[in-house]
Amino acid sequence: KRVAILISGGGSNMVTLAQDMLGDPMHPGAPVLVLSNIADAGGLAKARDLGIPTAVLDHKAYDTREDFDAALNDTLRHAAPDVICLAGFMRILTPVFVDAWEGRVLNIHPSLLPKYKGLNTHARAIEAGDNEAGCSVHKVTAGLDDGPLLGQASVPIRADDTPDSLAKRVLVQEHQLYPAVLRHFLTGEPGLLRL
Ligand code: GRF
Repeated sequence: KRVAILISGGGSNMVTLAQDMLGDPMHPGAPVLVLSNIADAGGLAKARDLGIPTAVLDHKAYDTREDFDAALNDTLRHAAPDVICLAGFMRILTPVFVDAWEGRVLNIHPSLLPKYKGLNTHARAIEAGDNEAGCSVHKVTAGLDDGPLLGQASVPIRADDTPDSLAKRVLVQEHQLYPAVLRHFLTGEPGLLRL
């Protein structure tokens, strides 16, 4: 199965997804494109080092979200992905995109959804006095961070945690969770994966 990965930054989740696929000849997925909306995203160089085709689509070049999404659809159609993984992709996607690919788009979000949709998830969990945080992989729908859950992993919040120390601990789990969920998704295994 052809897997496209969308990034905006360092792409650490993209790297772990790609390495899991490239390192296992029996893996059902193969990375066919890494696309970023940010031209100097660090993940683009990492993708090139892994031999994966890359593309940049600068959202600032489009007047509306819908125009960007239409261009994104065109670029993706050339790559003809079976599955699209959002991995640190920091754009809100409109129905123009979601309707074109619905059911085939995954996202990783750094909270235990449905808690803390949106941004600054770790600061909010600490602020709320939660004793655990984590990450979630879900199917992408029109709602922000709102689709059916496919997997979750949790970590304890420590008394001396800052948003940064917690983010680091959660990111380790993200790198375990996303590759495992993608494998399950590609083999059609149902149910929620809990690490
Ligand atoms: C991670 O916290 C991820 O949960 C969020 O974007 C952040 C950076 O991810 N979606 P990456 O290193 O660019 O994959």
